[in-house]
Amino acid sequence: MKDQLTVFGGSPAITLAQDEFTQWPIYPETEAGSVADLVRNHKLSSAHYNPDSPSARLERAFASRWGVKYALAHPNGTSALQSALFGVGVGPGDEVILQSATHPYSCVPIIGRGAVPVFADVNPITRLLDPSDVERRITSRTKAILVVHWHGMPADMDSLLKVARCHDLKVVEDNCVSQGTLHRGRMCGTLADGAAISLQDGKLTSAGEGGIFLTNDPDVYQRAAILGQHERLKELPDEKYRTVAGFCFGEKFRIATVTAAIGLVQMQKWDERMSVRKHNAEKLGQAIEEVGGFYFAEVPDYVESPYLQGWVRFRPHELGGVHRETLIQALQAEGAQVVNPATRASRIPHTDQIRALHLHPVFAGNEVGAEEILWDVLGSSVRQRPKYGPDTLPVTEDLEVPYDTIQLPSFTRPADQLIAQYQQAFLKVAAQADTLTKSYES
Ligand SMILES: Cc1ncc(COP(=O)(O)O)c(C=O)c1O
Repeated sequence: MKDQLTVFGGSPAITLAQDEFTQWPIYPETEAGSVADLVRNHKLSSAHYNPDSPSARLERAFASRWGVKYALAHPNGTSALQSALFGVGVGPGDEVILQSATHPYSCVPIIGRGAVPVFADVNPITRLLDPSDVERRITSRTKAILVVHWHGMPADMDSLLKVARCHDLKVVEDNCVSQGTLHRGRMCGTLADGAAISLQDGKLTSAGEGGIFLTNDPDVYQRAAILGQHERLKELPDEKYRTVAGFCFGEKFRIATVTAAIGLVQMQKWDERMSVRKHNAEKLGQAIEEVGGFYFAEVPDYVESPYLQGWVRFRPHELGGVHRETLIQALQAEGAQVVNPATRASRIPHTDQIRALHLHPVFAGNEVGAEEILWDVLGSSVRQRPKYGPDTLPVTEDLEVPYDTIQLPSFTRPADQLIAQYQQAFLKVAAQADTLTKSYES
């Protein structure tokens, strides 16, 4: 007799307490101690640059991990993106091409520089910028391409860089949500003219908030520094930029010392955390594929991550024609923390808008004139208004998470035993998928 499914009154396959395995961020005593030391020693401000300060050490840790010459710590990833854009020379009235299906904070820094966002369509598999559509949207006003890498999925950098070089454009990488993502073995964030990383909770190195700007280019670095890091300028290589010391050009982008101290301790755990996550991802991926009826989608050959967002696909015809919601319900009853990714992936945070910025009222307009705010904010430097709104990005507008996709959790601590229980849960549900379908869907 088969082990009865929990939805029919059996006992769950997963019995281990899971919170500990999925907890993120993890801020243990070492992080708390580093903050307490700063408070006790009255060292909460980094107003005077000091190469031994937590922020300077954090910058060196990032520069060394990413293998780049320069890193500048910021209050968040958004401000680091602003510095990157300023660093490569983006200014009022310039156009910057990016994808519409992204976090709003990929786009906000473009407006912060007085530049005009131009949305390009995406590749339906990677859901990231489609280089040929980028090329179609280049005008004489285009200054840069802002490339988003997304939770382990790198954008097609070879083709994007080719387009950029061909049209003499700068490229900034939004690596905010992709720490450690590799593109043909090279770290995303090192592949273009400048990059931004976020340390907001949920990222591999997190510190509550925080951001890092990275570049190999001394000019881009120095320009980025003069935007909002007035206390740093005396250290810059070129005299022209050094003489700006004591002043800056529009922002104050110094990271909080407490944030830097937490980030620094987190950075020291990078190798251990990466290897735990990688091991768990590989083990879980293998365990689920062995069940039969489940598989991971093919990815382009430049992608190295085996476990993108934990999205697993199922073949309904091998699982009794089961519907996604029935499958998720049965797995959840067994204790698996699986969800329908469509509900998460398709909304702009804090709104009901689908995750496509060109359809947001600020761009698409609405009956109360939200779009006027955009043009008012950008002012007279705008030479031409791009067309936003429906029917301008067909792939993006059609970008549903495929119906046969479910999302697994990320395990952040060694989890072999728990993964074995997940496999049992999937095996149990797969073996009785026929019965499940008949009783739920008849
Ligand atoms: C793709 C992307 N870019 C930029 C940001 C902004 O980063 P932060 O929240 O650190 O400002 C985020 C935030 O998660 C993001 O998802």
